[in-house]
Amino acid sequence: MTAKRLLALGLWPGVFFACRGTRIYTVAMLWIKALHIVFIASWFAGLFYLPRIFVNLAMVAQGSAAERERLLLMSRKLYRFMTVLAVPALALGLVLWLYYGIGRGPGQGWMHAKLGIVVLLLGYHHGCGVILRKFEAGTIQRSHIWFRWFNEAPVLMMLAAVCLVVVKPF
Ligand code: HEM
Repeated sequence: MTAKRLLALGLWPGVFFACRGTRIYTVAMLWIKALHIVFIASWFAGLFYLPRIFVNLAMVAQGSAAERERLLLMSRKLYRFMTVLAVPALALGLVLWLYYGIGRGPGQGWMHAKLGIVVLLLGYHHGCGVILRKFEAGTIQRSHIWFRWFNEAPVLMMLAAVCLVVVKPF
């Protein structure tokens, strides 16, 4: 591929993009941001699906033992996988923030608000692990209706985080 073509695709090292007012992005920053978004989306797939399995587990609590074991196995595997995915998702976000300085400095309230959402998300993720252990021990008392509401929380957190980072309202 010629240098001209690489330049047009933005793959030539040292090519700078000016976006959103005064921000300057290097190609490396854009690649990191792309990977950040991919890992965040993958992590969220788990945050959305695991509580759905909890809904089913709460419904079969009194029913078939084989079905319960199958759902527990799915939950365990999913929890392990989404924990692994959360690490690069957050690490890449930290690189954009701390290394490249996006969201640092005065007038970047959106970043602080987003970090608040991240703390809530980590709490939710950890809470899923606690619930899973309670299901394994057979000590969970919650109904499937409660888990249906619990399942809505990551939707609201994602909505807030994405709006904050894209719109940057304050
Ligand atoms: C430790 C946690 C995190 C940090 C430090 C972080 C940091 C960042 C930074 C600095 C950017 C670049 C913003 C820009 O280019 O203007 C970014 C982009 C982005 N982040 Fe995060 N992030 C984190 C977690 C999350 C989470 C949990 C979500 C989703 C719910 C998320 C969604 C996004 C999206 C969608 C973008 C692209 C925005 C755009 O290009 O306009 N991030 N992140």
